[in-house]
Amino acid sequence: MVAKPWLLLTCLAAAATAGVLQARAQPDSIGFISIDCGLPGTAGYVDDTTKLSTVPDAGFTDTGSNHNISAEYITQVPSRRYHNVRSFPDGARNCYTLRSLVAGFKYLVRAAFIYGNYDGLGQLPIFDLYIGVNFWGMVNVSSPDGYEVMEAIVVVPDDFVQVCLVNTGTGTPFISLLDLRPLKNSLYPQANAMQGLVLLGRTNFGPGTDGVRYPDDPHDRVWYPWIDAATYDVISTTEKVRNIDNDLFEAPSKVMQTAITPRNATRGIYFYWDSKPQPKDPTPQYTAVMHFSELQLLPNNSVREFSIHINGELWSPGGITPDYLRSNAAYSDVPLPAGSARYNVTINATANSTLPPFINGVEVFSIISTTNAGTYSQDVSAITAIKTKYRVQKNWRGDPCGPKSFAWDGLTCSYGVSIPPKITGVNISFSGLDGDISSSFANFKAIRYLNLSYNNLTGSIPDVISQLPSLTVLDLTGNQLSGSIPSGLLKRVEEGSLNLQYGNNPNLCTDAESCKPPKGKSKHAVYIAVPVVLIVVIGLLAALFFCFMRRKRQGSTTNTVKPQNETPATHPQSSLQLENRQFTYRELEVITNKFERVLGQGGFGKVYSGSLADGTPVAVKLRSQTSNQGVKEFLAEAQILTRIHHKNLVSMIGYCKDGHHMGLVYEYMSEGTLHEQIAGNGSSRRCLTWTQRLRIALESAQGLEYLHRGCNPPLIHRDVKATNILLNEKLEAKIADFGLSKTFNHDSGMQVSTYSLVGTHGYLDPEYYATQKPTTKSDVYSFGVVLLELVTGKPAIVRDPEPTNIIDWARRRLARGNIEGVVDARMHGNYDVNSVWKVTDIALKCTMQASSQRPSMTEVVGQLHECLQLEEVHTGDAATGSFYTGTSRDPNSGYNAYAADGAQSIGAHQSSTTAFEMEHDIGRELRMDTGPVAR
Ligand SMILES: *[C@@H]1O[C@H](CO)[C@@H](O)[C@H](O)[C@H]1NC(C)=O
Ligand SMILES: *[C@@H]1O[C@H](CO)[C@@H](O)[C@H](O)[C@H]1NC(C)=O
Ligand SMILES: *[C@@H]1O[C@H](CO)[C@@H](O)[C@H](O)[C@H]1NC(C)=O
Ligand SMILES: *[C@@H]1O[C@H](CO)[C@@H](O)[C@H](O)[C@H]1NC(C)=O
Ligand SMILES: *[C@@H]1O[C@H](CO)[C@@H](O)[C@H](O)[C@H]1NC(C)=O
Ligand SMILES: *[C@@H]1O[C@H](CO)[C@@H](O)[C@H](O)[C@H]1NC(C)=O
Repeated sequence: MVAKPWLLLTCLAAAATAGVLQARAQPDSIGFISIDCGLPGTAGYVDDTTKLSTVPDAGFTDTGSNHNISAEYITQVPSRRYHNVRSFPDGARNCYTLRSLVAGFKYLVRAAFIYGNYDGLGQLPIFDLYIGVNFWGMVNVSSPDGYEVMEAIVVVPDDFVQVCLVNTGTGTPFISLLDLRPLKNSLYPQANAMQGLVLLGRTNFGPGTDGVRYPDDPHDRVWYPWIDAATYDVISTTEKVRNIDNDLFEAPSKVMQTAITPRNATRGIYFYWDSKPQPKDPTPQYTAVMHFSELQLLPNNSVREFSIHINGELWSPGGITPDYLRSNAAYSDVPLPAGSARYNVTINATANSTLPPFINGVEVFSIISTTNAGTYSQDVSAITAIKTKYRVQKNWRGDPCGPKSFAWDGLTCSYGVSIPPKITGVNISFSGLDGDISSSFANFKAIRYLNLSYNNLTGSIPDVISQLPSLTVLDLTGNQLSGSIPSGLLKRVEEGSLNLQYGNNPNLCTDAESCKPPKGKSKHAVYIAVPVVLIVVIGLLAALFFCFMRRKRQGSTTNTVKPQNETPATHPQSSLQLENRQFTYRELEVITNKFERVLGQGGFGKVYSGSLADGTPVAVKLRSQTSNQGVKEFLAEAQILTRIHHKNLVSMIGYCKDGHHMGLVYEYMSEGTLHEQIAGNGSSRRCLTWTQRLRIALESAQGLEYLHRGCNPPLIHRDVKATNILLNEKLEAKIADFGLSKTFNHDSGMQVSTYSLVGTHGYLDPEYYATQKPTTKSDVYSFGVVLLELVTGKPAIVRDPEPTNIIDWARRRLARGNIEGVVDARMHGNYDVNSVWKVTDIALKCTMQASSQRPSMTEVVGQLHECLQLEEVHTGDAATGSFYTGTSRDPNSGYNAYAADGAQSIGAHQSSTTAFEMEHDIGRELRMDTGPVAR
């Protein structure tokens, strides 16, 4: 099923003629696209150095103009590809579209720029580059003959990708060349559906003047040589250096055949790069890949072992001893810590090593987010067909809806987090459209508003328009339409679901009978439609107002901030009033019948079932003698529980501190943990309904909100997860396990930095992980994971089949607009799809990488209230226009293929290369201590 992009693209090969090549806006026989931007005509040529066929850009963009660089620079540029440029003086955004790709596959995309004073102005422009709808980088031309290159490794979500140049008001964007190279999905595991890699530098340590590239590197990466003969010796071999099985980087033999080693054997290797912040990426994150292959057969008694430090921190997990004539790589899945101005890399021999270190090659990348989704592909096809048919002259370039600030004039779109925008409104009135009404208009499944008024449209109104499920306004006024109104539209008008305007069409409805509604109720159905719509609108407004008021009222009860010492809300069970009672160990023995029945096991020890003298069931947590967690943490929970009370936090009945015995007695939660319920192995083996899930989500959110807002100072739980949400017999949810909770002091926020990192794999906020500072937003992140578990019925780490974080798993599917592929199938579709979308959207917002982009628990509570109302009232889509009734796509499309393919290779790779799981960050150009690495 999972085809390699190479093989697949080979099938697309078209015959190439010798010498002059005909331009094809398509990959060549090996899947490469090499474009000479600004080359006039249709004839391409074979590039001198790579022998790759190069084509003009006519088939890839329909805007901009061709220019030759000025004569004085012609002789200075490295190749013919830089003799001309295409520049884009008009419009904020202009794009190239590269087609015939495979959705979900990985590609290397390279754009290069030599200004060469092509416009005679002698002014160096600065502009932005986007890959699809995601920011790629800023192009800052440094000198007239300066060579700027931008290279990205990205997973492409569609069967095409756009490269867009954006005018930022600091000069006219231009481009010299554009290349695309397919990569196996297993290569560069740091690039995935969520993030791409932008090249900072790629170095081949060794002598030479020209970069190693295609055909020596089958992927046509360009490796620039670097050598400092005063400090380093070159080691080299003529033997081929082979890639290991499932190699993640496939460094070419030509690069691996040379390496450098310090001349003074007691010294190490040192190089660095500086961080290159940009206005749109002020704290870039970096990641590096270092390539090593032993090139010398070492005598038996000698050892070559070295370690890598970056900014003084050990980056490699320990000593590295590269294999003889095999390409080994050191890399990290986690970026380097951000915010450093410079990244110093030191490669030193370890104490045991008898030989100095060496290095063959290095690549450094910054990481860009690729989470912005392009417009829903069906909508893109439809609007593109319309643009072509009517030759629309507007700013219609690049993605129709994204990014929001570049949305096409006349389009209205709906936006959510990590889900493709959809077109909800199209206004192309007064635009000189002629010909008939395109049937493509019937493909906008989410469109509510369509305005084609005051054009020169002819022919009849196609009936398919009446099948648009959400269309509420259709304006055809002032055209040359003829015939009658299709019965489907008349019916919609009659029902009051459509406002149709068709005045000023002299040839339309000349036979009045033909424009009557089927039942013949009214002569002017169209006009009665208006009041009907008005009534519907007023009704909706009233409903919204009511909901709003209701929410406000609910908000005021659930969000109440209670002073710590206020009497808690009354508990249903009288025994729970016995708060904070102290028990002896002997009493605990009696309560639990000598610790007879174990309910569960936590990090602090076992939890036993018990019952008080009056028969009230309780749970008793006993600190294990062997627990590695301190008495302090154990008592922390007791202290917290004595001072906080909320209906969605587990109540403590009492505690025991009897000699070295310590225990806590809680209310009994008969239905166990949310984790068990989701997995379907709770005591009743039920499958939770969507409404039950929503209530649980809301209740646990309220519990957390209370910790954050109701406690002074706020409490951070730090270990929010499905096993720490307990359910009672009424399936009411309560947050448990406050052992790791910490108060967060606003006044001296820094003190939290002394806390050690805690939490659970799969739920851990990456920002907390990076900064070591927990915030209330860390809990929001973990709660987002719980929400995803509720939606999907899957655990935080999904086996797919390789372990995958549920967030990535869900985002990958949702990126295809596929909600059905995400929702727990055990619910058999018994849910309001809008409410599921909304919860998923909240979950994705909660799990945004940057904590500043996550909502607060108060906002989450408010949103979940709305979802519950949606589900309860089942109002359908009228009031919730920004959510989609997801049309599913093939769940086996590219993204899944990627997930399986990539993950497997990572696993296989780890055994033979040095992959480390450490944090690590980057900068812009690679330098040795003597100067910059040649580019
Ligand atoms: C660019 O230069 C070529 C010859 O090198 C010439 O034929 C062509 O007309 C020039 N194009 C422009 C736009 O000046
Ligand atoms: C080698 O480097 C060490 C310090 O790292 C220095 O003491 C020694 O003099 C150097 N040897 C030579 C030959 O330069
Ligand atoms: C590497 O070795 C050099 C000299 O041998 C030493 O000055 C430096 O501190 C070492 N670096 C690390 C990170 O161990
Ligand atoms: C990197 O090394 C230079 C000296 O070579 C030093 O000034 C700088 O502080 C170091 N940077 C970091 C982040 O360690
Ligand atoms: C050095 O080698 C010995 C024996 O092979 C090993 O036990 C020790 O862990 C090694 N030390 C380091 C720092 O690698
Ligand atoms: C509108 O279309 C009709 C028929 O194609 C044509 O005769 C007429 O000139 C057009 N009018 C305008 C204003 O373009």
